[in-house]
Amino acid sequence: MATEEEILARVKAGCICKGIKLHAIIQAIEDGAKSFDEIARIAGIGGGSCKSKRCREKISALLDEQHPHS
Ligand code: FES
Repeated sequence: MATEEEILARVKAGCICKGIKLHAIIQAIEDGAKSFDEIARIAGIGGGSCKSKRCREKISALLDEQHPHS
């Protein structure tokens, strides 16, 4: 069964401009993406009308969470 966190990630926005959910970003990180550019390529985010401003912030927070000592 999906955890509450997983369910939330499926409904929460990841990249608002591209309409990509947070889940796709988390999946890309789990698949080994370690930078915004890698995640953007895998998850299909970025390059929207905010010029990646909103999703870039979210991703750097997520990367810090996943790799706190890197
Ligand atoms: S929120 Fe991702 S490009 Fe704007």
